[in-house]
Amino acid sequence: MNARICGTGSILPKKTVTNFDLAERMETSDEWISSRTGIRERHIATTETTAEMAVSAARKALEEAKMQPEELEMILVATVTADHIAPSAACEVQAALGAVNAVAIELNAACSGFVFALNTAQAYVRAGIYKKLLVVGVETLSKVVDWTDRSTCILFGDGAGAAVLEAVEEDGIQDFVQHADGGKGSALLCDARPLKNLFVDNPFGQEFVKMDGQEVFKFAVKRVAESIDTVLDRNHILPSQVSLYILHQANARIIQTVAKHLGEDMDKFPMNIDHCANTSGASVPILLDELNRAGRIKRGDKIVLSGFGGGLTWGSIYMIW
Ligand code: COA
Repeated sequence: MNARICGTGSILPKKTVTNFDLAERMETSDEWISSRTGIRERHIATTETTAEMAVSAARKALEEAKMQPEELEMILVATVTADHIAPSAACEVQAALGAVNAVAIELNAACSGFVFALNTAQAYVRAGIYKKLLVVGVETLSKVVDWTDRSTCILFGDGAGAAVLEAVEEDGIQDFVQHADGGKGSALLCDARPLKNLFVDNPFGQEFVKMDGQEVFKFAVKRVAESIDTVLDRNHILPSQVSLYILHQANARIIQTVAKHLGEDMDKFPMNIDHCANTSGASVPILLDELNRAGRIKRGDKIVLSGFGGGLTWGSIYMIW
């Protein structure tokens, strides 16, 4: 059995912040941001919590899947910006939905989070353990970016995306690759929980996102291309047979470089980074939902999903929609 997506949903916070808005508050410009990243605006949570966005996206996905919350057996929420350490965002989603029969687990793999959570769902389905699952990617990165650091704060946005999965005989997720390189963790880091106790003299941690942009850029183009090559090769699929490549929306130039490596046209690499910016673990499911609702994905289409980011982590999925 494979896990197949039968419903998607997404939500963005109400407040839109353009590059021009940022330029009024810091030394930057629309030209600098858009030419280097493809970002023109992002949505920033001013009232919405991480759990609320996750629940809104999940409700829409359940509605499309025509599934009742009580039917769910597992909820996986990928996030690095849950509202609390405990209860987890996954447990909050379970409670708000009334998904009383589902186990609820939060998963932290930064910008690879949604892809890793889908892989986890697929493993449970393959093992015959669960048949109806909900996977959510949600982030409120605006809580943890350093708004005094113009080289990082301009990159990120908030939002949530969700997918409902059901077990099917064929189609669905065919294969995935996933990797981590903790040795390079300092290239993209957010240490919000420093040692802090009676016995520590000088507690000090890096509470905000810090990133070596060029190092992360080099990592992303190499590893994403590699992981897509692997997942396609071992399923004997040519890049030209894939209808859509849905990549984590970190930077338009990263996506263009991967497209060039595969020798595929950019219209197979849809982007929403212009209006969403980098929403970390939420970017793949938000884009997936936008494409699904726009009728860009049809049953039988061969699709590749790729996530990459903090950890460092990266991975790709090959699925038949
Ligand atoms: N506005 C204007 N100038 C800025 C700026 C901003 N928002 N941020 C940085 N600069 C300046 C720097 O201070 C630097 O000035 P200097 O040359 O006088 O020192 C100059 O622009 C170049 O900075 P640099 O960091 O070398 O830029 P870059 O070309 O590497 O672009 C990124 C920076 C972040 C856009 C780019 O490295 C990138 O996209 N990396 C990948 C990041 C990513 O995708 N992360 C998430 C992965 S999940």
